[in-house]
Amino acid sequence: MAQARKQLASALADAGKEPAALEARHLLEGASGLNALELLTRGDEPLGFERAERLQRFMERRIAGAPVGRILGRSGFYGLDLLVTADVLDPRADTETLVNAALDFARARKWTGPEILDLGTGSGAILCALLDALPDATGVGVDLSLSACGIAQANLRRCGLAKRSSIFCGNWAEALVGTFDLIVSNPPYIALTEKSELAQEVADHDPELALYAGSDGLDCYRRIAPSLSRLLNPGGAALFEIGWRQAADVAKIFEADGFGPTEVARDSGGRDRVVMFRRP
Ligand SMILES: C[S@@+](CC[C@H](N)C(=O)[O-])C[C@H]1O[C@@H](n2cnc3c(N)ncnc32)[C@H](O)[C@@H]1O
Repeated sequence: MAQARKQLASALADAGKEPAALEARHLLEGASGLNALELLTRGDEPLGFERAERLQRFMERRIAGAPVGRILGRSGFYGLDLLVTADVLDPRADTETLVNAALDFARARKWTGPEILDLGTGSGAILCALLDALPDATGVGVDLSLSACGIAQANLRRCGLAKRSSIFCGNWAEALVGTFDLIVSNPPYIALTEKSELAQEVADHDPELALYAGSDGLDCYRRIAPSLSRLLNPGGAALFEIGWRQAADVAKIFEADGFGPTEVARDSGGRDRVVMFRRP
């Protein structure tokens, strides 16, 4: 298996798929059904015909442009192993910035039993990460896509979080009653005018409903902002992922609804990635 892994890493690197060694490890794990530790300790075992065939198919799909998460039907997010299908956005490393900022805020509050709302929950990645890290929190996730709601529910069950969470299918917070201490959202924020510039791997594999937000990419923030004062508890905060050039425009939208000052958190590449609004 070690040999297959080396050959795969080299084929991926030749095709410009980086980080090739890490991708090869994930694909080999998926094809063999073994975890990282088993692969290390059983590296000199032969791969076998069936597994080799599966690995070959995985490699071909990857080289043709399918992201690893789509090939395996699973993606890692904040240390959790989540199911991913064509109906949901493959959770991104950038979104961990939102989770970190929300956790910093929540931990500093020393809340007992905070209530969390995740708008546009998709795979449930953000909600799963927050509930996993805050053992006495409860959470609600909302998505317009019924299929995405099913995946979010499956992921919450998979992470042992089903009892502390509910998923609703709906248009943002339109039909929601109740209030929350922490509101998080990674809404679609790509401008339709940027559609043609989008990386092929994203455009071909992530659902359109998860990507685009009107001509300037700000439509979803405009739709969510008016409901924030009804939903957010005093002492709470709302955090939104943004496109890296959108901080000032998104701040303006929420400030017009009485929120601010806007705090901005940067991703690991040093780009603006999250805006946060506290409610005194
Ligand atoms: C960028 S994806 C984020 C998914 C997930 N929260 C994450 O961070 O990986 C945006 C999500 O918003 C959902 N969405 C789009 N329009 C919506 C609406 N009007 N109401 C609720 N959810 C919506 C999409 O279906 C998609 O799952």
